Amino acid sequence: MNKLLITGGAGFIGANFVHYTLNHYPNYQITVVDKLTYAGNPDNLKTVLDKIEFVTGDICDPELIDKLIADADIVVHYAAESHNDNSLKNPWPFINTNIIGTYQILEAVRKHGKRLHHISTDEVFGDLEIDDPNRFTEETPYNPSSPYSASKASADHLVRAWMRSFGIQATISNCSNNYGPYQHIEKFIPRQITNILRDEQPRLYGEGKNVRDWIHVDDHNFAVHVILEKGKIGETYIIGADNDHTNNKQVIEMILELMGKPKDWYVHVTDRAGHDMRYAMDSTKLRRELGWQPEFTDNLERGLRQTIDWYTQNEWWWKPEKEAVEASYRANGEQVVEKLANK
Ligand code: NAD
Ligand code: DAU
Repeated sequence: MNKLLITGGAGFIGANFVHYTLNHYPNYQITVVDKLTYAGNPDNLKTVLDKIEFVTGDICDPELIDKLIADADIVVHYAAESHNDNSLKNPWPFINTNIIGTYQILEAVRKHGKRLHHISTDEVFGDLEIDDPNRFTEETPYNPSSPYSASKASADHLVRAWMRSFGIQATISNCSNNYGPYQHIEKFIPRQITNILRDEQPRLYGEGKNVRDWIHVDDHNFAVHVILEKGKIGETYIIGADNDHTNNKQVIEMILELMGKPKDWYVHVTDRAGHDMRYAMDSTKLRRELGWQPEFTDNLERGLRQTIDWYTQNEWWWKPEKEAVEASYRANGEQVVEKLANK
């Protein structure tokens, strides 16, 4: 039985990966290491705590990471500071966790000769013009816009350098925007769903023309397993579900309709500084070479319905934090922009 060390396994995608692995790949013995920042929630794993080992700890701690990696066969590295808006307010935790933390993991992987899969993002490529028909591929040059995406790009470069200079056994994946259960309510989709559940209007940054290539978290995590099983060491794989045709405004309209509200019942708020316009992913390599296919492809509505149901049924999970998250957006200067009012 292979021993899997999952960093950041109490966060959104990492926790879903733990559940997905237990349900679909039971032959792994799982250890999670997570610092439990504001984004890590032990409740995300509470139903499976008897099936895994959980270690509260920081990936920037070299001794802890050395010990955990010495004891693992495979490391799947999800831990990161992940929210762009937070990186605009205070970049330091992003530099520390995303770059220094990844460095500590690489050094331990090198020392102990273990297999690493590094989780990254489409944001390392920067953005596309709104009417640009091109998509990001594995060959697209890096051009990150925010402190968050620059820190993830830095981490990717370190992984590539450790592969080439030290021959570590690693793969990288760059995925588009995820959605699904357990996503922190600071993020776009759960923020709007939980606003509506509280009878508050969704909040759209600027005009809402920005496009994200939405993928369900289980499709992302299935791809990670396919890469672990069939991926070629040293390779990078783009993960995307071909959903790059729905802009933020349309996503809010879909959520409103699915939740029984008028389509225009939202407000425009202050736009994000340096807001990336469009992400679009070409996952041909992953599909052709490794045979991956997403289950929720081209069916954002089905995935959104499932996600809305989850937040509706799990108010206990998000409600205690909702006030503080909204207060933090207000404290950071978010305001309703009257001149963009709908209709
Ligand atoms: P998240 O913010 O929900 O979770 C991050 C987890 O990492 C949390 O549990 C947090 O406690 C933990 N963590 C943070 N700093 C740590 C540290 N120093 N040591 C140990 N644990 C630490 O993030 P997410 O959305 O689940 O993203 C997970 C990974 O996937 C990240 O690497 C992110 O860049 C990448 N990614 C995310 C998306 C997306 O749409 N959310 C898309 C592509 C890639
Ligand atoms: O593309 C992958 C990335 O997706 C990941 O690497 C990041 O970790 C993840 O946070 C996500 O980044 P984004 O910045 O794209 O996601 P976010 O949910 O913050 O915002 C999605 C879009 O919605 C973006 O265009 C900004 C907009 N937005 C966001 C919020 C929170 C709004 O219009 N209103 C909002 O309230």
